[in-house]
Order: sequence, then C-alpha cells, then structure tokens
Amino acid sequence: MNILVTGGAGFIGSHLVRKLLAEGEQVTVLDNFSTGSRDNLPQGVKCIEMDVNDAALAAVFDEGHFDAVVHLAGQTTVHISMESPALDGEENVIGSIHVLEQARRTKVQRVIFASTAASYGDVAEESLPIVESEPLHPMSFYGLSKVTVEHYLRLYQKSFGLDFVILRFANVYGERQGNGGEGGVISIFAERLAEGKALAIYGDGEQTRDFIYAGDIAAGIYAALCTEHVNHAYNLSTQTETSLKELVAILADVSGKAIEPRYFEARSGDIYKSMLANGRARRALGWAPAVSLHEGLRRTYDYFRMRAVQAKE
Ligand SMILES: NC(=O)c1ccc[n+]([C@@H]2O[C@H](COP(=O)([O-])OP(=O)(O)OC[C@H]3O[C@@H](n4cnc5c(N)ncnc54)[C@H](O)[C@@H]3O)[C@@H](O)[C@H]2O)c1
Repeated sequence: MNILVTGGAGFIGSHLVRKLLAEGEQVTVLDNFSTGSRDNLPQGVKCIEMDVNDAALAAVFDEGHFDAVVHLAGQTTVHISMESPALDGEENVIGSIHVLEQARRTKVQRVIFASTAASYGDVAEESLPIVESEPLHPMSFYGLSKVTVEHYLRLYQKSFGLDFVILRFANVYGERQGNGGEGGVISIFAERLAEGKALAIYGDGEQTRDFIYAGDIAAGIYAALCTEHVNHAYNLSTQTETSLKELVAILADVSGKAIEPRYFEARSGDIYKSMLANGRARRALGWAPAVSLHEGLRRTYDYFRMRAVQAKE
C-alpha cells in the first residue's frame, strides 16, 4: 500500500511509520512540525513539511497517488481548545476537511482517522468500559472537533463512497511522547523521574485511566488499513483501568527508585474514571493490545532516561 500519514512526525506517527515500514509499505509523511520533529522519524523516510491547511496539499495528493491516508495531524491539547476554539476548529475540523476533500478528489480508497476517548465526555462509572455505541457528549472543543470530523467522514462516505475507519484512542503513552496534548501523565512522570524531579498528583491518586502503548496503537491502525470492516468506529484501548497510584508503583519498579509523589487538590474538569471497551476492535480488526503496562513503562522510562543523560553531555 502507498500510504500518506499526516502528522506522521508526531508521537503516535513515529510509532506508526516504523510499523508501516516493517510491514513493507510505502510511506509519505506530511507534517508542519508544530509539535512533531524530523528527529522522531527513522532516516530516509519521505517527509513533506506542510500544513494540512496549505493550498499546496492538492499537489501532494496529485503526485502521491495514495491508496490510503492515516490522518493524525492536528492540535491535541484540550486546554488550548478551550482557550481558542477557533484555532482548534481551524486545525482539527477545517484541516481534516481539506484532507478528506483531497482524498475524495484523488480517489484514495480509505481514510483512517485518529479520534479519542474525549469524544465520549464524562460517562457514568456504571457505564464503564465505554462501548462505541455510547452517545458522544464531548466536554471540550477538542472532543467536539473530533466528533464533528467523525460526522464528516460518514457524510463523505455516503455522498462520495470514500471509505473510513474511525479509531478512538484511549490514553496513549510511549517513547517520543511530548509533554502537552492528550494523555501526557506518563510522559510527564517518566521524564521528571528520569531527571530526578518530584512527581505531583492532583487528587487522591485513585483516579484511573486506560493506558495503551503507542506500538499497540500503531498495530491497531495497521489492522484498520487492512480490514474489510470499514465505515465503523472502533475503540483502541486495553480495557483495563489503572490508577495513578498503581502507575507510580510500576514506575518505581522499572526505575528502581523510591517515589514519594506530592499530592495537590484535584483539578476541576478532570474525569475521575476512564476505560474503553475493546471487544469490537478485537473481533472486527483481529487486533489486541500486546504490550503490558509494565513493559511499556520500562521502554518509556528508558527512553526518557537516555534523553536526560544525553542532555547532560
Ligand atoms: N496521544 C494520545 O493519547 C491521543 C489520544 C487520542 C487521540 N489522539 C490523536 O492522535 C493524533 C496524534 O496525536 P499525538 O499524540 O501523536 O500528537 P502529536 O502532537 O505528537 O502529533 C501531531 C502531529 O501533527 C502535526 N500537526 C499538527 N497540526 C498540523 C497541521 N495543521 N498540519 C500538518 N501537521 C500538523 C504535529 O507537528 C505533530 O507532528 C492526534 O490527532 C490526536 O488528537 C492522541
């Protein structure tokens, strides 16, 4: 397959590009490097520096003859979306429409879209794990942008026959994750720990998230590129709740350091418990998460420790 990965120089993109190359696929990355970097990519990967809102996107599609597009590009920070809904809409809604329009025009066969657990909003604890049919009531403009693009995908499919797969990621973590954006707690903890700094927990530490390793997300995206079961939304998650206290305990184990986190008052607006069901993705995509939290945290901590050592040199 000849695949365009928008936002491919970002955190998740960097894992996906490695997976696609390992599978022998032809890859082009398009990224404006707002949060991503060429350093995230293996040497020799074709990488075009461009914003998805740039009019020159049309020429990239004309020349690329892509079979599929994985659309990861966008701004990923909830609080930026709350402070500047227009900027979020420009990046995440208008930018996505431009990608869909070029995909339709150049007869791309399918678009894989990176959606999010934030599309569901605050779901009652009794309804966990959240299944894909749960109503979408986002609590942020970031979540609303993702839901809006999900609707665009459905209408593009209905109107023009452009196939899609929507993937709603849980909290993704792993090597090369930045500090901002979604699900950054693990990268923040691992980086601070590697630099010998204290960890802060807001709330009682019993709040939970569904943490999934970025390599498993890359494998899920690849399964979505290959599946016959298109035009659906799938959660990509571990379907396991982990509290921040448990997270700290595993990090203490992988780092060999004693950790005494400092506790602060909970931040308003933070969801207390979160977990996504992954049965639909397991059945339809033949995919399952393969990397345990312990192993994923070890890889992530090793990455940040190496970076801390390099920064000192
Ligand atoms: N990390 C998570 O936990 C998580 C969870 C759910 C969904 N997602 C989604 O997955 C996707 C990738 O997220 P990530 O964590 O790798 O974030 P990231 O910030 O590392 O990657 C986003 C990439 O897109 C690029 N980009 C941003 N705006 C662009 C634009 N207008 N034109 C071209 N390139 C642009 C950035 O430079 C960056 O390389 C995003 O769409 C995000 O919303 C991430």
